[in-house]
This record gives sequence, structure tokens and C-alpha cells, in this order.
Amino acid sequence: MSKKMSAFLHQRPLYSSSPESYDLSPRSRQDHQKTSSSAAFLSRGPALVLLLLSLLVILGVVFPYVQSPNSLIFFTSRSSDSKWRSYTLSEAAAYVAKNNSLIVCAVSEAYLSFLNNWLISIARQKHHDKVLVIAEDYATLFKVNERWPGHAVLVPPALEAAAAHKFGSQGFFNFTARRPQHLLQILELGYNVMYNDVDMVWLADPFPYFEGEHDVYFMDDMAYVKPLNHSHDLPPPGKKGRTYICSCLIYLRPTVGAKLLMNKWIEELKDQPWSRAKKANDQPAFNWALNKTAGQVDVYLLPQKAFPTGGLYFRNKTWARETEGMHVIIHNNYIIGFEKKTKRFRDYGLWLVDEYAIESPLGNL
Ligand SMILES: *[C@@H]1O[C@H](CO)[C@@H](O)[C@H](O)[C@H]1NC(C)=O
Ligand SMILES: *[C@@H]1O[C@H](CO)[C@@H](O)[C@H](O)[C@H]1NC(C)=O
Ligand SMILES: *[C@@H]1O[C@H](CO)[C@@H](O)[C@H](O)[C@H]1NC(C)=O
Ligand SMILES: *[C@@H]1O[C@H](CO)[C@@H](O)[C@H](O)[C@H]1NC(C)=O
Ligand SMILES: *[C@@H]1O[C@H](CO)[C@@H](O)[C@H](O)[C@H]1NC(C)=O
Repeated sequence: MSKKMSAFLHQRPLYSSSPESYDLSPRSRQDHQKTSSSAAFLSRGPALVLLLLSLLVILGVVFPYVQSPNSLIFFTSRSSDSKWRSYTLSEAAAYVAKNNSLIVCAVSEAYLSFLNNWLISIARQKHHDKVLVIAEDYATLFKVNERWPGHAVLVPPALEAAAAHKFGSQGFFNFTARRPQHLLQILELGYNVMYNDVDMVWLADPFPYFEGEHDVYFMDDMAYVKPLNHSHDLPPPGKKGRTYICSCLIYLRPTVGAKLLMNKWIEELKDQPWSRAKKANDQPAFNWALNKTAGQVDVYLLPQKAFPTGGLYFRNKTWARETEGMHVIIHNNYIIGFEKKTKRFRDYGLWLVDEYAIESPLGNL
């Protein structure tokens, strides 16, 4: 039972792991070094003090015109960057969509290596052409579009990097809470859309699995083994009164039902806002939305053998061996720590960026 409980704690680990251990401190270390070396510099003599003072004056003259880091980027980068600033989601969707379908992810700069890893695996299935990266910061927007023009869009406002990375923080909650809004907008524009977290790797083409004409397709995040022929209905609620469907992989058709579900998800996120005690992410709200729209939305649970949670694939070697050849998308969750996540992908031969970056539309980042 305690095993199960801890498994629950580890759901949606792209963030539960990475941001916590992602080291944001190098910058503060650098700042510290800068201050101590300028202190040494000062002690060397009045000429140097003068030089430093004049530098400060120049900075004082220039600085008022540079009001934010964004305008700094604007001044220092090529003019094409300003074009991407005004690139809208509807323009991007129209440019990227193939056969009226899009594959989207939402990433910030810290996850670029995961983005690239995921892209390589998609390129191998020849579906990369319809990938649209929803950039959460300007650095990501510019970097992706510089190498792969038109494939990244930023829906303002860009989020504060430091806030967005701390799992369980309000900034992180705000970051993920925008996902159903982006998806709803894409549905309103009339596209089929698949959302993926970028700590995933495709081993096969998932599209043949989106069979029938259902509104929404998703995978279970529960790690217990199900029969190979399990039902495609919404599973019964778990201990918390709700299901544990993963908000990490969602395929939607532009139907009334799918839009209703996204609207309910947005509503649930508002009704259960972030609190210090709960430290919510967007997954419970998605599950409550599924619960409350049951009967109105035509749902389809993807087969576990093809779309296993990381809690099963990486933790039950017997199961992984028994189902070998059936896996379609692997999710690197149920693990804490950016480094551990990378190492686990390496151990399983799923960290493709080291050797195969050339296969990514972004190349070597
Ligand atoms: C285009 O989409 C339709 C339905 O969404 C699908 O049946 C068809 O196979 C797709 N064609 C290609 C070339 O992907
Ligand atoms: C998160 O969103 C709420 C509500 O929109 C806002 O009041 C709050 O300042 C935001 N917090 C962070 C850290 O982004
Ligand atoms: C799965 O197969 C078993 C054994 O053949 C059968 O009893 C069961 O009803 C099947 N379940 C579903 C959901 O089809
Ligand atoms: C919705 O949640 C309630 C409370 O946990 C539960 O009793 C009910 O069976 C759920 N409905 C569905 C369709 O899962
Ligand atoms: C691991 O998988 C095997 C084979 O599917 C299954 O029999 C076993 O119960 C699983 N172990 C756990 C701890 O879930």
C-alpha cells in the first residue's frame, strides 16, 4: 500500500522531478563571483575605481531605455525575432498542420534537450512535420524558430522562468493551467490535436491507435497490470474518488464533446486554485473534468500495453518483457530528478540526443 501511495506522489514527473533538481543556482554563483572579483578590482587603485565609475555612468545612461530582459533580447537579436513575437497560435497552427492535425507540446528552455529527444523519436515515425512547440519563454521561441522556422509559437504572457520551474509552486501551477486553454483554442480552429509531455519517446506510430471517432483518447497513469484486452472505457475512480488518467498524452478531435471537456478542465482548475497546502498540478482537475462530463463526452482509454505509464514500464521488468514489441509511447515518469530522468532514458537506450541529434529537425542544440 505504501508503494502505491508513493507511486501516486510521483505522477506527472516531467516536472515533479526535473524542476526540483534542476539547478538554477549557477547564475547566483556567477553573480557572487562577479561581486567578489570586483571587490578585489576596487582595492587595486583609484584609476580602476574611476574606470568602474564611468562604466556605471554609461550603464546608467543606457539602462533606462532597456526596460526588460525582453527588450534587451529585442535589441540584440536579429529582426526576425520580432516577427516571431507577433506570430499567433492560429497562424502557427495553419502553417504547421498536416491533414488538419497537429502534435503539440509546451516547453521552456530548461527542457530543450528533452524536446529534442522527443522530436528525434517522432521524426523516426515521420510525423515531425506537424509538431508545433508552444514556447513558454522567448529563448525557446527564438531558438526553435531559428532552426525550424514557424514551428514554435508563444502565447503571451511568457512565464517567469524561475517561478515556472519549481514543481508544486504557484508559478508551476499557472504554467500547466494554461494547457487546456491552448488545446481549446486549437480545437476551436478546427484541428485534431495530440498533446504530449516532452519526457516521452515514441517507439512506433501512435495514430493507428486513435481508432473510431471518439472525442478524446488518453492513457492511464495507474501502474497496476491490466489484462491485455482491457476495456477502453474510463476506469472506475481510485482512492481519491477520481481516476488517474495522465494529462501527459491527450488526443482530441474538434468535436462538441472535446471542447466541453476542455472547458470543464479550465473550470476545474479555477475552482480548485493553487494552494500552499495542496500544491496542485493540472492532472487532478483533468480527472475531475472527465468525471463530471461522463456521458457527455465520448472517451477512449488507450491500451496499456502500447501506452504504459513509466510506473509500469520502468518498474516491472517482467511486464516489460512480456509486452515487448507492443509499446508505442514511453513516458519517463514516476521518478524524481532531472538527472535521474536523463540517466534512466540513457540506461534504457531512449536518450537519443547524444548520438542521433542529426535526425532532429532542430539538429544539435
Ligand atoms: C488524414 O486524416 C484522416 C482522418 O482524420 C485519416 O483517416 C487519414 O488516414 C489521414 N491521412 C493521412 C495521409 O495521414
Ligand atoms: C498565478 O496566477 C494567479 C491567478 O491568475 C496570480 O494571481 C498569481 O500572481 C500567479 N503567480 C505566479 C507565481 O505566476
Ligand atoms: C478479456 O478476455 C477474457 C478471457 O478471454 C474475457 O473473459 C474478458 O471478458 C475479456 N475482456 C474484455 C474487456 O473484452
Ligand atoms: C465520479 O466521481 C464520483 C465521486 O468519486 C464517483 O462516485 C462516480 O462514480 C464518478 N463517476 C464516474 C463516471 O467515474
Ligand atoms: C509485474 O508484471 C507481472 C507480469 O505482467 C505481473 O504478474 C506482476 O503482478 C507485476 N508486478 C507488480 C508488482 O505489479
